[in-house]
Amino acid sequence: MHMKASDHDHGPKTVKVKFLLEDPEGLTGDGGKEEVECKGAIGENILEIALENGINIEHACGGVCACSTCHIYLEEGENACNEPEDDELDRVEEAPGIQMNSRLSCQTVIESEEPIVVKIPAWNRNAVKEVPH
Ligand code: FES
Repeated sequence: MHMKASDHDHGPKTVKVKFLLEDPEGLTGDGGKEEVECKGAIGENILEIALENGINIEHACGGVCACSTCHIYLEEGENACNEPEDDELDRVEEAPGIQMNSRLSCQTVIESEEPIVVKIPAWNRNAVKEVPH
């Protein structure tokens, strides 16, 4: 499913976002890039920023908090992002490999200028294909 386009305007892309890819080949088709540094805007979510920069995080429900395939680890910049809502917390519990810093990338919205570091585990690409529903 395609990502639902944002229905609101974003400000300028001034927030540093770094993605750490455990499976660069699976996520980008380019095995050489284990780190991708880019810029996001306040009001954008992490999934949108990843997709804009060629990082194909799974997003089976299209970014509406109805699956857990867009699970990521928010390594740095927790205070720069929104607090998870109850719906997100319920969903993220269904994801494999859950940690204290687990978030759903489609629900993680940038709220301030602090740099953000996101790790995308290797199993992200495979969760949908290997776990039958
Ligand atoms: S894409 Fe389904 S919850 Fe994020």
